Amino acid sequence: MALKFMTAQEAAEFVNNGDIVGMGGFTPAGAPKDVPTAIAHKAEKLHAEGKPFKIGMYTGASTGDSCDGMLARAQAVQFRTPYQSTKDMRAELNKQNVHYFDLHLSELAQNIRYGFLPKPDVAIVEACIVTEDGEIVPTAGVGNMPTFCHLADKIIVELNEAMPACMRGLHDIYEPADPPYRKEIPIYKPSDRIGSDCIKVDPKKIVAVVKTNRPNEVGKFTELDETTKRIGDNVAAFLEGEMKSGRIPKSFLPIQSGVGNIANAVLGALGENPHIPAFEMYTEVIQDSVVGLLKEGRVKFASGCSLTIGADKLQDIVDHIDFFRDKIVLRPQELSNNPELIRRMGLITINTALEADIFGNINSTHVLGTKMMNGIGGSGDFTRNAYVSIYTTPSTAKDGAISAIVPMVSHMDHSEHSVKILITENGIADLRGKSPIQRAHEIIENCVADEYKDLLRSYLKTCPTAHTPHNLHKAFNMHEAFAELGDMRKATF
Ligand code: COA
Repeated sequence: MALKFMTAQEAAEFVNNGDIVGMGGFTPAGAPKDVPTAIAHKAEKLHAEGKPFKIGMYTGASTGDSCDGMLARAQAVQFRTPYQSTKDMRAELNKQNVHYFDLHLSELAQNIRYGFLPKPDVAIVEACIVTEDGEIVPTAGVGNMPTFCHLADKIIVELNEAMPACMRGLHDIYEPADPPYRKEIPIYKPSDRIGSDCIKVDPKKIVAVVKTNRPNEVGKFTELDETTKRIGDNVAAFLEGEMKSGRIPKSFLPIQSGVGNIANAVLGALGENPHIPAFEMYTEVIQDSVVGLLKEGRVKFASGCSLTIGADKLQDIVDHIDFFRDKIVLRPQELSNNPELIRRMGLITINTALEADIFGNINSTHVLGTKMMNGIGGSGDFTRNAYVSIYTTPSTAKDGAISAIVPMVSHMDHSEHSVKILITENGIADLRGKSPIQRAHEIIENCVADEYKDLLRSYLKTCPTAHTPHNLHKAFNMHEAFAELGDMRKATF
């Protein structure tokens, strides 16, 4: 069946007001660009004519500015899930103009298949290859593409010529059966491949192919600074100690590393540490630092859902595809973040907290308890099922005006039951086998910034004795001090 090539504007006509759209890719890696932009322009035109136009939007995770940014600015999104990180989308959902629901990333595809969420009407996916018999090869990110493509009535493919066809073979596409028919997912080590190298669809569903030539919109990471370097060294020291004690086998265990600047820097520091053996990764996003570590042999294999890396790093992979082909695999997020696989392979998980409390609860998502930052992403998938779950954070933010460690988290994503280790630039708190009050002392003495230690010690003194000592009148005094006086150090207990 001949492919129907057309412009992005023409393809956007297949998307109607009220449709639910499943966008391919994961992070800006592999996210569609031209068609979402054309949908945004269509929305603006219809709005100017006084006509309604909004879509529901499923994605893998975040997307780039030409997708989330454009659609948010055009007021074209009714609901959004499961993760975002674009400035304008963040602003819209915090104004309640977009109904956003934050989901564990491993769950979206199955939640749609189970009927908890409506199926997408249209899938818009980026590919490096699309064939007349319905083979679609993703680019730098897979996300939920297999499920979106299988369930949508219409598929629009952005054939991105900036993503060369030699990327075929990097992917491992597999969709688990749903209960009661699901069997074990037969991945036993990060390098196992169990699926196909492309998504196969009924070619009649491919209603449009839009040729484009655009790099991914992956932002730059901040350089390693003294704080992130010290966090990385502390993570390495912790893992070295675990190996020496025999709690982590000498052959080591696969590593998952989270998203953002801190995670990228921590992984870089870990890779450079001579006491940590070369390791494999079973992770969600493969960030910039992994590419160099793969070349140096410090990372032996990286399984992920996306190559969320700068254009130069992606070019490096493409230029040396024969070297990288047997060292990288990209899978749907249902597999990269799958709880069964995380528990089976015994992952060491390292994620970043926005805020932690003195008992080990973690806030990954809500700035000062109310404003959505990005979303929970895969942090819950990994933390709850890890061999050992580590959270890292700089001990302060905003030049010290915010302590990342507070009496009570202002929003909780990961509870004390799932979090095993907390690490800041100041040190390591090992929370395993400790009661709440023991954890509080461990965290305050080892992790909190010096300027906040006395404040948190004095908070504890105001708490009536109890299993988890809290003073519910004062638990948010530090947050209130920041809101009213611009500085948590001005809190009193
Ligand atoms: N209160 C308020 N703001 C805080 C804060 C706190 N306790 N801690 C940090 N911030 C601010 C920083 O000042 C910074 O603000 P800016 O953008 O205005 O400079 C911003 O939050 C991001 O901080 P940064 O230190 O650059 O963090 P990061 O890029 O490493 O990202 C998370 C950290 C938590 C936002 C990010 O890891 C995330 O979204 N996590 C959730 C998803 C996840 O963990 N996925 C991993 C699964 S693979």
